[in-house]
Amino acid sequence: MENIIPLICETAKAAGKLALERRKNFEDVRVFSKETPADLVTDVDREVERFIVERLKKATPEFGFIGEEYGVTEGSSGWAYCIDPIDGTTSYVHGSPVFCVSIGVLKEDEFYAGAVYAPQLDELYYAEKGKGAFLNGTPIHASKCRSLGEALCATGFGCIRAGKEKNNLEYFVKIVPQLQEIRRTGSAAFDICQVAAGRFDGYWEFYLHQYDIAAGAIIAMEAGALFTDVNGEKEYLEKGLVCAAPGVHPLLCRELH
Ligand code: IPD
Repeated sequence: MENIIPLICETAKAAGKLALERRKNFEDVRVFSKETPADLVTDVDREVERFIVERLKKATPEFGFIGEEYGVTEGSSGWAYCIDPIDGTTSYVHGSPVFCVSIGVLKEDEFYAGAVYAPQLDELYYAEKGKGAFLNGTPIHASKCRSLGEALCATGFGCIRAGKEKNNLEYFVKIVPQLQEIRRTGSAAFDICQVAAGRFDGYWEFYLHQYDIAAGAIIAMEAGALFTDVNGEKEYLEKGLVCAAPGVHPLLCRELH
């Protein structure tokens, strides 16, 4: 697909700037709860998703859309965009710098390309299948770490916020003492990109959605990270995601059974 990277990168950047701009007048941002009181969404999430869809539709009208806020729109080709307008909404609401716009491209339901933009950090991660992964134009690679004791990892607790049964705290308690350190950034897309950039050695989380991971998946894989469920398969959404440097991935999977 020609020119898909410039299109999704420019769109992600413009969308991120819009989100950042809107937060400058936070008193005008409306915050709502979704399925549980802690599951936040703002009118900016919705506005940014509409902005992204409008832009992409103009350039590629045959593509379908899967969006966090507005759901699925079928396309007339095997191509679709998978969009999280603000990944890290809770951080966005609290004024934290770590939130991202995430635009994934799926070809026949497979990860094909992706752009993740963290506007406040001005970091743009992107990748297209077979062409490597980049951060602000520079190639990125997963780390060479081979032991949990030397690994800086990240995880998330969306499961608690969503009131789900499989509680990551159990695994957190088991795994964290074995690691060099742990981080919780509040954005799954950002965590995955940190693994791609070799800053984090591994990341795991349960109950993610396709729009949280679609862009990050191809960025991580193109950077040489492994991206699977806890069994080394592709049921990331049902079984839990493990994205890690090749030397750390089997060690994390073993702990997550
Ligand atoms: C959430 C973030 C968070 C993760 C949650 C996600 P949202 O996405 O990625 O880090 O722990 O599971 O739902 O709701 O801010 O787009």
